[in-house]
Amino acid sequence: MRLGMLAGYLPWRDPAGRFSWLKLGALLALLAPAVAFTFSYLTHDLGPRPLTQLIHASGDWAVRFLLASLAVTPLRALLDWPRVVILRRLIGVTAALYALAHLLLYTIDQKWNLLTVASEIALRFYLTIGFITLLGLAALAITSTDVWQKHLRQRWKKLHRLVFPITTLALLHYVLQSKADVSAAMFAVGLFAWLALWRLAPKRLQSRIPLALALAILAPLATALIEGLWYATATGVRASRVLAANLDPSAMRPSMQVLLCAAAVWALMILRRGLKAAAFARPGPKNGKTNG
Ligand code: HEM
Repeated sequence: MRLGMLAGYLPWRDPAGRFSWLKLGALLALLAPAVAFTFSYLTHDLGPRPLTQLIHASGDWAVRFLLASLAVTPLRALLDWPRVVILRRLIGVTAALYALAHLLLYTIDQKWNLLTVASEIALRFYLTIGFITLLGLAALAITSTDVWQKHLRQRWKKLHRLVFPITTLALLHYVLQSKADVSAAMFAVGLFAWLALWRLAPKRLQSRIPLALALAILAPLATALIEGLWYATATGVRASRVLAANLDPSAMRPSMQVLLCAAAVWALMILRRGLKAAAFARPGPKNGKTNG
């Protein structure tokens, strides 16, 4: 009985405890960056400051997986893909583990001087934000189990909705630590804008094609606006200049990258619905129609 319960927690099994190719594939994809970077480190392939490279890479992947975990629910609705939901916990917990590795690498970079680590976190605003984010992610990862879900009942949903403010803090940490070029961080901000806008949409629209189209317009606009505001407040560059740069497709600004991702979701949605409709229209035993 106990072994049976444990099987449900093995990362390649579905909630019913059965082996799942989808989960195994996701697990391998989630582990791939860690394996690749460990290999590059061991083969001295990370340049003159390997630890700095690893700190950046672990932070990047933590944010990517955090956004991927938030994308599960919208993709389930938009692509009519209910099974994808079994990946949400796995991706979210992995994001928290990458963030933990990020702090560990930073501590190693500080020669294990915990006093320095603590004072840097207390004194540097972007590190304080990073630390609060990590605490939040750890709380969500720990309480993500079925046991906690049952124990907290209605409060569990409320607690796990905190993933949105926590991701906002993660992105603030990302933007603040970026030096002159915030493009990569702004691309992540834009993807988050898409996810947040989907969440804010009325429930009855959340699986509709027009919503995906609206998001493909609104999310890039929000990205360009946030980028313009950032440059205006942090560097004094006029927001209108940044907005103008966003209109040039060859510049491939973050807003354009967000537009491409959002359009890809919209196109996938149309393709998937088209294929489903075609399968339904085809005569066959599944549709209750017979040949002849
Ligand atoms: C105590 C917690 C944390 C500490 C001490 C910390 C520390 C750092 C440091 C030192 C950098 C590099 C800054 C530079 O090179 O100037 C960095 C970058 C970064 N961190 Fe954190 N961080 C923390 C938490 C987090 C968390 C929780 C996340 C994400 C969920 C995160 C995501 C990132 C990202 C995306 C970058 C930028 C990577 C890049 O530029 O490629 N950090 N962090």
